[in-house]
Amino acid sequence: MSNALQRDLMRLVERVEREDGPRAAQDPHRLAFHLMPPVGWLNDPNGLCRMGEDYHVFFQYGPFDCTGGVKHWGHYRSRDLIHWDLLPPMLYPDQPYDIHGVYSGSAYLEDGKMYLYYTGNVKHEGDYDYVYTGRGHNTCLAVSEDGRTVTSKQCLMENKDYPAGLSCHVRDPKVWKQDGMYYMVQGARTVEDRGEVLIFQSEDKVHWTHCNTITTPEPFGYMWECPDLFELDGQWFLCVSPQGLERAGDCFQNRYACGYFPLYGDFRGACRLGAFQELDKGFDFYAPQSFLDGARRIQFGWMGMPDAEYTNPTTAYGWQHCLTVPCVLTAKAGKLLRNPVPELDTLHGALRQVAVSAGRHEEARTFDLRYQTAGQPFSLTIHDSVRLSWKEGTLTLAVPAHGAGRTARIAHCAQPSVLRILADTSSVEVFADGGALCLSTRCYPENWGVRWDAGTGTAELWEMQQP
Ligand code: FRU
Repeated sequence: MSNALQRDLMRLVERVEREDGPRAAQDPHRLAFHLMPPVGWLNDPNGLCRMGEDYHVFFQYGPFDCTGGVKHWGHYRSRDLIHWDLLPPMLYPDQPYDIHGVYSGSAYLEDGKMYLYYTGNVKHEGDYDYVYTGRGHNTCLAVSEDGRTVTSKQCLMENKDYPAGLSCHVRDPKVWKQDGMYYMVQGARTVEDRGEVLIFQSEDKVHWTHCNTITTPEPFGYMWECPDLFELDGQWFLCVSPQGLERAGDCFQNRYACGYFPLYGDFRGACRLGAFQELDKGFDFYAPQSFLDGARRIQFGWMGMPDAEYTNPTTAYGWQHCLTVPCVLTAKAGKLLRNPVPELDTLHGALRQVAVSAGRHEEARTFDLRYQTAGQPFSLTIHDSVRLSWKEGTLTLAVPAHGAGRTARIAHCAQPSVLRILADTSSVEVFADGGALCLSTRCYPENWGVRWDAGTGTAELWEMQQP
């Protein structure tokens, strides 16, 4: 399926990737083992799935503007979650119902076909605020038979088809099948500026009816973006990215939040949300999405933050942002644990055993570090940029240098006995407390490695090889 606009956009994307790609590739801050756009802008992971032998990661892609632009669905494909092929975009903004952006959504697989549900963004011309008026957020479906090209596209629902009392912001459909029925969650903002999640059901994947709305008893932010609802080890979880929360101590330190509620009861009827937990306490984590890979649930997040007060110097090379590494989600005592997929270990170079003491320094441009802290306070600096320290129950991630405006983030942590740190050329992901406490951040260093300023214990360090 293609039309003249799609054909032109396809050629333009090819051309801009060919012409601007070499400049982006020269940036010393290009990442070694994270997914990033070849040129331009990336935000949310979309349509995550495994079709046959292939993993597919789509992403919000602005090929023509490294500060945003009109969104396409960029496309990476892999056999092993490590080696990725960049394919042409899967979805282009080429229809009246998605002309100002093919926004976030998900993939549902059935009978060897890929059903891609997404939000078609339309901004009507006129004197509108684009929150309560003037914007169409259409629920759309694109079908692919080969996982590379789209055979049909259609608009399934428009704003008038959503429940009453909502603003124009209703988006990011995530679809799955359960008990012989299809279900969809979408994030929404009410006219009273409350965030909530809408549940739709369908018997045929095409005709959808609203069947429930889930929110907190008290308002919790004005908009919930990118919902993801799933069961893990008998516990239901609702992941959302809420906007409009005020900072409270070590909670909600970023412009927007991102985390999950445990959900008790049946999401189709009477149910209740437990206490919200943040998925990441670093500077750069937002809009994650998960999918089932056999028995395991894998999640990717966007290692970025919308409307953040800090910037990313990669824009000088015409690109911006990356995804997190894929993580396996597990559940423990009502909490979600996030830990990198074991496949990443295949990138390990030779093991370096480190006896930690103040002044100890290991050079490595990219590394996987497992640090046994011996329960003692410590302070270490990654890439001369990101300082991670712990004392008296507080883990602090500070970026005093090369952080492009990032300052410090704190997290309660009773005792970080083992820490895992995955450092790429311009990113650091910290996993503590068995994956219950994660901190992700970008940084833009000029030297690479890790140095202990204080601390004891032992560490294992592997340099990460370029896939
Ligand atoms: C989250 C988000 C989504 C939207 C997409 C547009 O980062 O705002 O709600 O679909 O980005 O790129």
